[in-house]
Parts: sequence; structure tokens; C-alpha cells
Amino acid sequence: MKKALVLAGILFSVVVVAVLVLRHIDDYADFWRMRETPGVRPHEEPLLIMEAGVVPVSDSEAMLRASKAEDLKSPLNLKDPAVIEAGKKLYFNFCYMCHGPNHDGKGTVGQSFSPLPTDIRSAKVQALPAGVHFKEISYGIPDGRQPALATTIPLLDRWRIVAYVKALGVRN
Ligand code: HEC
Repeated sequence: MKKALVLAGILFSVVVVAVLVLRHIDDYADFWRMRETPGVRPHEEPLLIMEAGVVPVSDSEAMLRASKAEDLKSPLNLKDPAVIEAGKKLYFNFCYMCHGPNHDGKGTVGQSFSPLPTDIRSAKVQALPAGVHFKEISYGIPDGRQPALATTIPLLDRWRIVAYVKALGVRN
């Protein structure tokens, strides 16, 4: 019985000392800190250096959308007959159901729109700079009915369509 009490006393003292030591370490020591565990340390490593070109500074859709329409320059020669011819094919893919085979806004699908699709050979539309056409077909017309086609038609194809529309000229 006496032996058991002494053992219990020793065990108790060992536990108390161990707790005190651990608390001291926890409060004052520079080692065994949580920030040193593998789960936390990687976050302290410097950020990776971004490769050039990760953030586009020109020609991204967001940059084009934010640019003034008048400042947009076509990367293609809009007067090149091959570009215009390619634009014609694209017009009959993406535009003619609304603007019609005669470009006068009388396409079958377009007749349910209000306002109706515009006559794109009107003097008003033909007077618009190429960049304005590009932005209108890419991002739509604010509060208007022209659909935004930037995600439907690839960038250069949109410029080809602009070349075709411009080449049509004003209707006589
Ligand atoms: C789903 C029908 C639809 C399609 C497809 C469509 N348009 Fe339109 N478009 C319209 C409507 C409707 C308007 C009149 C918009 C308004 O004034 O709100 C319009 C207006 C326009 C205008 C006049 C803009 C202005 O400033 O007055 C141009 C130019 C134009 N579209 C070109 C195109 C071209 C090029 C395409 C093909 C890439 C195209 N549209 C595809 C329906 C369409």
C-alpha cells in the first residue's frame, strides 16, 4: 500500500513537471512552432515569378472591350480582296439571318426583333469607323439588340466581317 502511494506520488510529480516544461516551451521557445510545420511553411515561400505574357497588355478581349472604338486598329488590311471575300462567307454564316441577304435588315430571324436589324448599307452605318463596327458586333450595342458575338466569332474573323461590311458601301 505504501509502495503504491509512493509510486502514485512519483507519477503525479512527473506529470506535473512534464506539463510545466511543455507550457514553458510553448510560451517561450523558438522551436516546435506551428509556423515551422510543413503545412504552414510553403505559404511563406516567395511567389512564383510570372512569365511574360501571362497578363495580356494588348489584344486581349478585355483590353479591346475597354478601348475606345475609334482607337481600335484592325490587324488585317480591310481593303485586301481576300480578307473581304473571307468576310463575305462569315457574314452569310453569322449575320445574314438577321440582316438579310441584301444587308437591309430583312433577314428572317431578325423580323422578331425590336428595333429591327439595321440596314447596314445605310449612310449612317457606313459612316461609322471600322473600330465601332468591330465593337458593336463583338460586344453588342448598349441597350440595343445587336447580339454580342465575341465568344461566337474568333477575333480575326470579326475583322474580316468588318472588312466585308465596309466594302459594301452606301446603297444607291
Ligand atoms: C440575332 C440577330 C442579329 C444578328 C445575328 C446580327 N445582328 Fe446586327 N443588329 C441586329 C439588330 C436587332 C440591330 C439593331 C440594334 C439596335 O439598334 O439596338 C442590329 C444592328 C447592327 C448594326 C448597326 C449598328 C449601329 O450603330 O446602328 C450593325 C453594323 C450590325 N448590326 C452588324 C451586324 C453584323 C456584321 C453581324 C454579323 C457578325 C450582325 N450584325 C449580326 C440583329 C442582329
